[in-house]
Amino acid sequence: MNTVYFDSSVSDQIRRERLYNGQLYVFSPCHSSMALCNFARTLIEDAFQGRDPRTAQHGMPVDEYAAILAKLKPDFIHHAKSKDLIKNLLSELRCDLDQTYFDVPRMRSSTSGGYLTAGIAYAWHPHRDTWYSAPACQINWWIPIYDIESDNAMAFHPKYWTERVPNSSAGYNYAEWNKHHRANAAQYLTEDPRPLPRAVQPIELEPQLRLICPAGGIILFSGAQMHSSVPNTSGLTRFSIDFRTVHLEDVRAFHGAPNVDWECTGTTMNDYLRGTDLSHIPADMVGMYEERSTRSQKPV
Ligand SMILES: [Fe+2]
Repeated sequence: MNTVYFDSSVSDQIRRERLYNGQLYVFSPCHSSMALCNFARTLIEDAFQGRDPRTAQHGMPVDEYAAILAKLKPDFIHHAKSKDLIKNLLSELRCDLDQTYFDVPRMRSSTSGGYLTAGIAYAWHPHRDTWYSAPACQINWWIPIYDIESDNAMAFHPKYWTERVPNSSAGYNYAEWNKHHRANAAQYLTEDPRPLPRAVQPIELEPQLRLICPAGGIILFSGAQMHSSVPNTSGLTRFSIDFRTVHLEDVRAFHGAPNVDWECTGTTMNDYLRGTDLSHIPADMVGMYEERSTRSQKPV
């Protein structure tokens, strides 16, 4: 990893290749990303009923705050309008909707000062999404809903693009996780006992890279990229949107980022929906990923 491309106009195919090589892309806010942000803001501001969502944490009991997020986040994730707005964004950034599949957009929040860092507002330790059964061709899209600063952003840890990190992903299976843990997030207010894969040896957080774009800006990175939530010391809650895409040609070819250290089983491949008609990836292809993941994976 050595390059951050700003407002690059290359094709989606070239962009994907570079992302699979560990490069990063940042785009300025555009018409469709602002439409997505504005929709998210409307839901957030309705949920907080007149309070400023970025400072509401300072005047509310944490359980009440978590209850608001527990309703707000699924409302955004499952809203039909969210999917339509994602399609528009993919089009505007030159993705072929017929070949590009996306999963439902998540809304994330990062509270300041350790107010709520578990469960529904989990503060992400350094990880690769590929430790959580994401395929090597997964591309992550990340968008701040309000302006961010360096002390409430997300961080990349570029040295680990090529460096293996001993981790607990071998014990993770996506289907098992969904069955036993996914629905429980909102109950955890202080500690989060869910067995998420993580590094099993200390990880060097520096050097790290924090990309600061305005609200509605878009950061693209490979799911194999090591990234984390920055401990939020800004005094303001960060709200962001993220979702993931895969391109069918790359899915079919098992093409994507190199595997340096992931050993999880299962696949998220059935989560992605086609940009045109929201159909799933063909079942035989999902099956191939499922089957492949259960063979002993030796990182290369
Ligand atoms: Fe992630």
